Parts: sequence; structure tokens; C-alpha cells
Amino acid sequence: MATPTEAKVSVRPASDADREAASAFITAGTARGRASLALLRLRQGLLWVAVEESADGEKSEKLVGLLLATVQIEGDDAEPAGYIHELLVHPAYRRLGVAMHLLDAAERFFLEEQGFAQVYLVTSADNEAALRLYRSRGYHIQSVQLTKLGSSATREVRDDDGTVEE
Ligand SMILES: CC(C)(COP(=O)(O)OP(=O)(O)OC[C@H]1O[C@@H](n2cnc3c(N)ncnc32)[C@H](O)[C@@H]1OP(=O)(O)O)[C@@H](O)C(=O)NCCC(=O)NCCS
Repeated sequence: MATPTEAKVSVRPASDADREAASAFITAGTARGRASLALLRLRQGLLWVAVEESADGEKSEKLVGLLLATVQIEGDDAEPAGYIHELLVHPAYRRLGVAMHLLDAAERFFLEEQGFAQVYLVTSADNEAALRLYRSRGYHIQSVQLTKLGSSATREVRDDDGTVEE
């Protein structure tokens, strides 16, 4: 079996079967994950998948990453924009450029094919991997949301490996 560094990973728009596989890839332990699962279940959103082709030429593939996006229109006068709802790469396949390829596909679709003026997303201020990734691609911080949690709130934190601490 090929190690991740030797793996042949390609990115493509998802098929119906990919959408099913994507549901198993996403944790329901966070609000973002639950929203992503709802989008997939309702056949909404645009999904791109990164798949590892089998090394022996068999027609089997393994899902190793995904990007789920929607079109957002904020108010009556707003222009449509691409919103990246979820970007997730299997921990064993990170730092191989998989997220870069997924973002290439989504940005090409929204900015070039659809001619939208912008693509945006929200991530945690402490997600250094994501911030470095997005900054390296020309994303910049446009607004800052400040939150104070009440004592009854349960804080959900998604680790860099996609697992959840509460
Ligand atoms: C963030 C995430 C999507 C990156 O995926 P990836 O496939 O490993 O990213 P890439 O290999 O394409 O990295 C491209 C660049 O992003 C930056 N980067 C990615 N992961 C990084 C990390 N752990 N630490 C620092 N920089 C990182 C680097 O600049 C990297 O380039 P380099 O490897 O040449 O230094 C992945 O770590 C992940 O799935 N995390 C959990 C979910 C998440 O946080 N999603 C983003 C928020 S929506």
C-alpha cells in the first residue's frame, strides 16, 4: 500500500456516492459539523472531494479530504459570494498540498467560472494551520467577531486534527 507521501491524490466535484462518503468523514460533534451533515443530507451545497487512487490500478478510491461550500447572498442589494463552509483533510494526508488543491477547485468555480467578486469563510482565531493556509493564498481578515460565553454555555473546540474537545 502506498504511504500518504507517495499517494496519488486528485480533486474533483463530488458524485452522489462521494456525498455519502463525505458524511462519514465529518464529525457531528461540532456545530459546523452538524451544519455540514445537514447540507449533505439535504443535497445542498457544492462539494469537492480529494480522493486517493489505489496504487495497484484497481478502481477503488479513498476519500482523504473535502471542501463544502455554499452561495451566500447577504441582503437585498448584495452580490452572490462563495462561502467555504467546511475544509477538512484526513490527518494522515496533511501537509501534502491537498487543501491547496481543494481551494484551487472551489476558487476557480466561484471566481472564474461564476464570476463572483469574492470567496470568504470563517475560522477560529486560534486555528493557526487554517490561518497560515488562507493567508498564503491571499485571504485577509475582514471583520473580527468577539464572543463572551455565559456560564451555561458549552464551549466546543475543534482541534487541528478535526477531533472535538468540550
Ligand atoms: C487546515 C487543513 C485543512 C490544512 O490541510 P492540508 O492539506 O494539510 O494543507 P496543505 O498541505 O495544502 O497546506 C498548505 C499550506 O498551509 C499551511 N499549513 C497547513 N497546515 C499547517 C499547519 N499544521 N501548521 C502551519 N501551517 C500549515 C502551510 O503554509 C502549508 O504550506 P507548506 O506545507 O508548504 O508549509 C487541515 O489541517 C485540516 O483539515 N484541519 C482540520 C480542519 C480545519 O481546521 N479546517 C479549516 C477551517 S474551515
